[in-house]
Amino acid sequence: MKVLVTGGLGFIGSHTSVELQQAGHSVVIIDDCSNASESVLDGIVAITGIRPEFVRMDLRDKAAVRTFFQKHPDLGGVIHFAASKAVGESVEKPLLYYENNLCSLVYLLQELTARPEARFIFSSSCTVYGQADSLPITESAPVKPAESPYGNTKQVGEEIIRDTCAAHEGLQAISLRYFNPIGAHPSAEIGELPLGVPQNLVPYITQTAMGIRKELSVFGDDYPTEDGTCIRDYIHVVDLARAHVVALERLIAGDNSANYEVFNVGTGTGSSVMEVIQSFERESGRKLNYRVVGRRPGDVVAAYADTSRAREVLGWEALSTLDDAMRSAWAWEQKIRAL
Ligand code: UD1
Repeated sequence: MKVLVTGGLGFIGSHTSVELQQAGHSVVIIDDCSNASESVLDGIVAITGIRPEFVRMDLRDKAAVRTFFQKHPDLGGVIHFAASKAVGESVEKPLLYYENNLCSLVYLLQELTARPEARFIFSSSCTVYGQADSLPITESAPVKPAESPYGNTKQVGEEIIRDTCAAHEGLQAISLRYFNPIGAHPSAEIGELPLGVPQNLVPYITQTAMGIRKELSVFGDDYPTEDGTCIRDYIHVVDLARAHVVALERLIAGDNSANYEVFNVGTGTGSSVMEVIQSFERESGRKLNYRVVGRRPGDVVAAYADTSRAREVLGWEALSTLDDAMRSAWAWEQKIRAL
């Protein structure tokens, strides 16, 4: 199948492009390079031996989206990653986030619903659950009011897809709600490339160990958890990428039970910030410079997935451990600093 991967040069998109190619699909990437570099294509080639077709394009350009679909009548599926994802920036620039994350989604769906049949995988987030009332979090847990415009674009994005599927039988869609993606490809050919100061825990850890940042601030150790630090479900990006291939293949096989489905993608295990630091120290053999500071506004105490639906319905589960992910993140950080 020919598969369109929007945002295919980004962290999760590039790993998914690799897994798609390794599963025998041919990949077309659209990316505007606003937060990614074209050189990521070389990493994909180094792993798979295949250069995906690449189109540099801003999906807010409705006419360009239409022209692209006219030129690609043979797309077997679309996996939509392209979006802005910085929580803090979204608070400063809400309209940029609504335009970038939602207009692009609407334009893609307009093209897909003009076809008799289409398959669509959407990049959603566990952020839709907020602080869930019970753990682990199942897909039927209520969606809580979003803490940020970024989080709201994921909630509204899901609603747009749900409503569009209700009106268009030919559209088959799946939203994947990711927990915390970390790590890098074990080849160290592709990985996360945060611009500026990283906001997420793992790139902050690896940059601190590399001496680029002075110390990691641990945001709070007075939470009601065993060691007082927040708990998250950290999932290896390669496992997450595989979940997209499995989801798309479910739609290709026509195995889906409704034309819109939602799945959590996590490991099912929660790890505290301190456990992540310990895993990093074990895998890298380095002591990490860190200091406990106050809580970060907007952080939830604990979030980890109930993965039964993904396991039973998709036949997918995470295979890598936290240690595997930290080892790969460190190998990637060392590789990019040596370049
Ligand atoms: C964050 C976003 C979430 C988004 C996800 C994408 C917030 C509040 N949430 O999730 O909406 O979907 O990224 O990857 O921004 N931590 C530190 N020190 C740091 C950085 C993080 O102690 O320098 C802690 C945090 O308090 C948290 C954990 O590490 O407990 C994970 O943080 P992070 O990687 O930013 O992910 P989330 O906040 O879970």
